[in-house]
Order: sequence, then structure tokens, then C-alpha cells
Amino acid sequence: MSRSPSGLDYRFDSRVAVQYDALRGHPPEVSPQIGRAVAEHAGEQARVLELGVGTGRIALPVAHSGCEVYGVDLSAHMLAALAQRIRDEGHARVHLVQGDITALPFRDGVFDAALAVHVLHLVEDWQGVLARVKALVRPGGALILGRDWVDPDSFAGMIRNHFRRTVLEVGTAMLPPGSSAAQPPGGGAAIMQTLQGLGAQPVGRGELVGAEWATELAPRQVLDGIRSRDDAESWVLPDNVLEETMRRLDAFALDHWPDLDAPQPVTRRFMLGVFRFPLQ
Ligand SMILES: C[S@@+](CC[C@H](N)C(=O)[O-])C[C@H]1O[C@@H](n2cnc3c(N)ncnc32)[C@H](O)[C@@H]1O
Repeated sequence: MSRSPSGLDYRFDSRVAVQYDALRGHPPEVSPQIGRAVAEHAGEQARVLELGVGTGRIALPVAHSGCEVYGVDLSAHMLAALAQRIRDEGHARVHLVQGDITALPFRDGVFDAALAVHVLHLVEDWQGVLARVKALVRPGGALILGRDWVDPDSFAGMIRNHFRRTVLEVGTAMLPPGSSAAQPPGGGAAIMQTLQGLGAQPVGRGELVGAEWATELAPRQVLDGIRSRDDAESWVLPDNVLEETMRRLDAFALDHWPDLDAPQPVTRRFMLGVFRFPLQ
């Protein structure tokens, strides 16, 4: 099994698999937009490799948009949740492979595009993964890096950013050596540099907006999501780090939004970074 760069234990076990779609799923009207946006860049009827396919949050809408998706994931639990959805929807255009994306079992050049959403940061040798992806995607094919975006100026974005800063402060002081939560692995700039080294050219100027939608949430919902470890970023924090982080985060929130139960609007987006591999 590949190691996560933070040294922390990211386990996509049955608890996470069951909750994943409830917590991270997109609204039903948004998923098709995301599928179309990915398919537009992957190509009509493209054969797409998805790295870390999870429960198929992206793969299913991409397949609905006409692509054939090969989804690889380490977690049997996440794949079981996806297999159930494929059965429920009677979908034949998503193929599942349980395995490690650091050892992809495909022939060179068989894919028109590769897709990675919230997964590269979990893999220590993400550079090796990208190099292998270049070989697996045909010349002129695409790599699409997707991510969920929350308006950083909304209250939810402010809580999220404060949470990340606080985890760094608290984690640096409390985590054992070698398991620093302070390393943002494979961050944007490093990925750009690696892709540039592989000859991949960005499409457009910066990331593209695949979909945008509005939600309403109360500060307490966001805080409780983090506290209960239902939030992806708090899954892996040791108890003492999470406890101290929440003490500081609760104080920050109360200071800014005295009524923690008052719903507020939050704009969300699904962003796409699209890169094209050279023609030869
Ligand atoms: C945060 S989830 C994202 C799932 C999906 N891409 C999405 O956005 O809904 C990360 C997924 O990557 C998988 N994963 C993590 N490391 C992996 C590896 N080395 N090889 C294959 N899958 C991996 C996990 O099992 C999990 O399903």
C-alpha cells in the first residue's frame, strides 16, 4: 500500500464509505454539469482513467455524459459503495479495479484522458503517478485535476481556512516527529512544475469552473462536521490535536458569528485544471 505524504493514516474504511456521498456528494442538479464539463475536455465517448475513483461521485456523471470510465481505488469499501450505485443505476460504462494508483495495471496509450479528484495529496509518490499517467494516456490526451471549492470569503471558507491554520499550529506542537500535518503534499505549484516537466500544457488560463451552485449552512453545522470527524480533513487527526483545534476554532467562530445557528449563503464550485499531453 502506498504511504500518504503526511504520514497520517487515511483509511477509507466502511464508516467513511457509508458517509462519503452524504457529506461530499454534489446536489443532483450539479452532478450532470460536472459530468459534462469533464467529458467536454476528455473528449466525446472518451476512455477515461479515474485515479482514486471512490464512490463514483465524479465517475458516474462522467459516464452518464458518454465516457467510458475505468476507476481505480485501493479501498474495497469505497468500491463496494460504487458497485452498488452502478447496480442501482444499471450503468455499464464504469469499470472498477481495486488497486494502488502507484502501480497502475494498464497498457500504455489506452486512455484518452485521466482524471484525479482529491487523491494525489494522499499518495507519497504522486510525481511517479503523474509520469505513469502520461504513458497511459495517448499522445494529445488530457489530464483533468478536479477539486471542490468553497468561497474563501464565506463563513464556511473562513472556518475552513482557520481550521487548517490551527491544525498546523496545534499539530506541529503535538504530533510525533515524521507525521507532520504541516506538509501540504503535492500542492498546486509542485504539481504544475511536475506536469510542465512532463510536457503537459494547461488548457485555458488557470482552473476552469466546471459547476457553481449556492447552498445555505449554519456555522454550527460546519463546526460539528469537523468535530465529529465526518469532515475529510479531521478524519485522521489524533484526539488531542482535534480537541485543542476545536477549542480554538469554536472561540474563533463565536467571535465572528455570535449566532452559530443562523444559516448563511455559501457559494461552491467544482473546479477543473485541464492539461494536455504533447502529441508525440
Ligand atoms: C478523498 S477520496 C476521493 C474520491 C473521489 N475521487 C471523489 O472525489 O469523490 C480519495 C480516494 O482515493 C483512494 N486512494 C487513496 N490512496 C490511493 C492509492 N494509493 N491508490 C488508489 N486509491 C487510493 C481512497 O481509497 C479514496 O477512495
